Amino acid sequence: MKRNISVSIIGGSGYAGGELLRLLLFHPNVKVLQVTSRQFAGQLVSRAHPNLRKISNLIFCKQDELLKCDLLFLALPNGISMGYIKEIKNKAEKIIDLGADFRLKDKNTFATWYKKQHEAPDLLPEFTYGIAELHRSELKNAKYVACAGCEAMVSILTLLPLVKHKIIESKNIIIDAKMSSSQGGNTPSMSSHHPERHGVVRSYKPVDHRHSAEIEQELALYSKNIQVSVTATTIEMVRGLLVTIHTQPRPGITEKDIWKAYRSCYGSEPFIRIVKEAEGIYRYPEPKILTGTNYCDIGFVLSTRESRLVAIGAIDNLGKGTAGQAIQAMNIMYGLDEKTGLEFPGLHPI
Ligand SMILES: NC(=O)c1ccc[n+]([C@@H]2O[C@H](COP(=O)([O-])OP(=O)(O)OC[C@H]3O[C@@H](n4cnc5c(N)ncnc54)[C@H](OP(=O)(O)O)[C@@H]3O)[C@@H](O)[C@H]2O)c1
Repeated sequence: MKRNISVSIIGGSGYAGGELLRLLLFHPNVKVLQVTSRQFAGQLVSRAHPNLRKISNLIFCKQDELLKCDLLFLALPNGISMGYIKEIKNKAEKIIDLGADFRLKDKNTFATWYKKQHEAPDLLPEFTYGIAELHRSELKNAKYVACAGCEAMVSILTLLPLVKHKIIESKNIIIDAKMSSSQGGNTPSMSSHHPERHGVVRSYKPVDHRHSAEIEQELALYSKNIQVSVTATTIEMVRGLLVTIHTQPRPGITEKDIWKAYRSCYGSEPFIRIVKEAEGIYRYPEPKILTGTNYCDIGFVLSTRESRLVAIGAIDNLGKGTAGQAIQAMNIMYGLDEKTGLEFPGLHPI
């Protein structure tokens, strides 16, 4: 098959860049042209990503060696791409940014949550938010895409049907997120040092998590005044993300109404599965079996006694949360079958 879309990755030595590369190297319509790294320039990509040994002979290059390509993926830490974008945007027709810089539409909201002024505010309106399930029609013609953050991705997908179909009240939505270590990227720190990280259940961000802004921005497309509170806890897991979302159902809501809402939003979505079983150990979503996949599993439980609806969402933070999300968006941007290159079903047992 002809590999006719030429792509390059900036920041390719990181975890998100590595996952992009793993997927893109097997994508039938893509040719990976260049991958940049400052630390590894001149060395094989497998130096940073050992799983790619004997799979790719690509050599990391420096950013100033970038050639023109069709699509550029930016896999840089948050706050970097807004400074680079004007310099590199002539290198590609289309750009997909995996970081946080272009997710929020409003520069003041960005300044509030990221505690700095935006460096390219004029470009904010040109970016389409990367969640295919919400923005499929805009993605078809998008030039620039900002991928959602991983907590935002799984929280938005889990909540959307409940908000859209008026199943829950708009306030007191508590998102309890269990995070893995790869979400922090590949730069070591004291808190990622093995004796300090191993075995932890550590409150990372009990309130005011930045992804609250993205979640509220996107859910506002379906209902005004949605307010969420995200509590993030890091646990003993390398990949994966689970959100347990506590909500208040509107009066009279039944389990049937909730099934109906999820089925009507996601019945034909290729990467969303409703997981709610009466028996077995995998009755609700679990990130472990989603490792390396682009799936988002969603489940729920309604307690009439407690007047509470708990919705549960799971993803691989580097899959649907980042690289898988980006490739699904790319497939739509280039008129390909959305599932191309993303059909790995995961492993069991793992
Ligand atoms: N990790 C996740 O689960 C996850 C989930 C959702 C979204 N994301 C987003 O994806 C992006 C990348 O995340 P990541 O986890 O892959 O981070 P990472 O592991 O820290 O990788 C980022 C890479 O960028 C390069 N880099 C760092 N500072 C740079 C600079 N000033 N200029 C040029 N290159 C620089 C580094 O490579 P060299 O030093 O070799 O150049 C590094 O390997 C972030 O914006 C993050 O928000 C990540």
